[in-house]
Amino acid sequence: MEKFIQSLPKAELHIHIEGSLEPELMFSLARRNGIPLRFDSIEAVRRAYAFSNLQSFLDIYYEGANVLREEQDFYDLTWAYLEKAAAQNVRHTEIFFDPQAHTDRGIAFETVISGISRALAVGRDKLAISSGLILCFLRHLSATAAMKTLEEALPYRDRIIAVGLDSSEVGHPPEKFKPVFDRAREAGFLTVAHAGEEGPPDYIRQALDILGVSRIDHGVRCMEDADLVDRLVAQQVPLTVCPLSNVKLRVFDTMADHNLKTLLDRGIRATVNSDDPAYFGGYMNENYSTAQSALGLGHQDLYRLARNSFEASFLAEDEKRELIAELDVFYRG
Ligand code: ADE
Ligand code: ZN
Repeated sequence: MEKFIQSLPKAELHIHIEGSLEPELMFSLARRNGIPLRFDSIEAVRRAYAFSNLQSFLDIYYEGANVLREEQDFYDLTWAYLEKAAAQNVRHTEIFFDPQAHTDRGIAFETVISGISRALAVGRDKLAISSGLILCFLRHLSATAAMKTLEEALPYRDRIIAVGLDSSEVGHPPEKFKPVFDRAREAGFLTVAHAGEEGPPDYIRQALDILGVSRIDHGVRCMEDADLVDRLVAQQVPLTVCPLSNVKLRVFDTMADHNLKTLLDRGIRATVNSDDPAYFGGYMNENYSTAQSALGLGHQDLYRLARNSFEASFLAEDEKRELIAELDVFYRG
């Protein structure tokens, strides 16, 4: 199974690039930029990664992002992720970034996007990994601040495929961002949103009906609403599920309690993703293999997850077909 998962061609659709900041890189960037850290060792950083819920993680995640200052920092961060993804046979990746976590600290939008997109271009050339960039608005901040960020992104329209919504979910429903998402769609962006991670099934409905999203990030709480499940199945709305994240942030008590297998068996287009791999203990293959062993996923389930990842991606139809053909050749052995 481990070997099958390693060799399985797959796409990642839910990865926050700031969440791929490994403690080693955090220390080296802190040194390079002369920034003091409150931790005295890499082990101390890892020990702090014991979370009780989403907010307890986000507090540390934004603290970690503070070491990112220069264009080269964003390049190094993105490049380190791409090398890991390519080594795990990730053939395509759609990466979230949180510009407000940086512009609010005085870092220029241009610095952030140019470091990330320069690494993505080298990744396409040197690692044969295709990619897209998704700008996320921080939902704990105002809709006005999100609109300002959208305006800042417009000159970089050709480098961004979609906009999304992340950060503290409960108390910040999708409807709060309706005008921003309307404007983003007018400007030609696709849309996604985190919903139903900690928030109720109604947030998933709002994301679909009010924000017009093409995918739901997480969405695991959909199972509490039978009508919503019927709709997700009928419309084949993709869910970007993140198993290790859900256990680390206590959405499920243990991996054996995760509903990934139930979602698949119910006919929902679920995918597996890493979310914030440096914080949650694994990249794509660790997510696949931990879920596989805890839930007894078979080869066919793993094939379905990989196939869903290509189908749910924002690639052009011919690019999807090519990757699915590659997957089929591997699966038929
Ligand atoms: N930002 C980074 N990871 C996130 C998650 N799992 N949920 C919401 N916002 C996030
Ligand atoms: Zn996420």
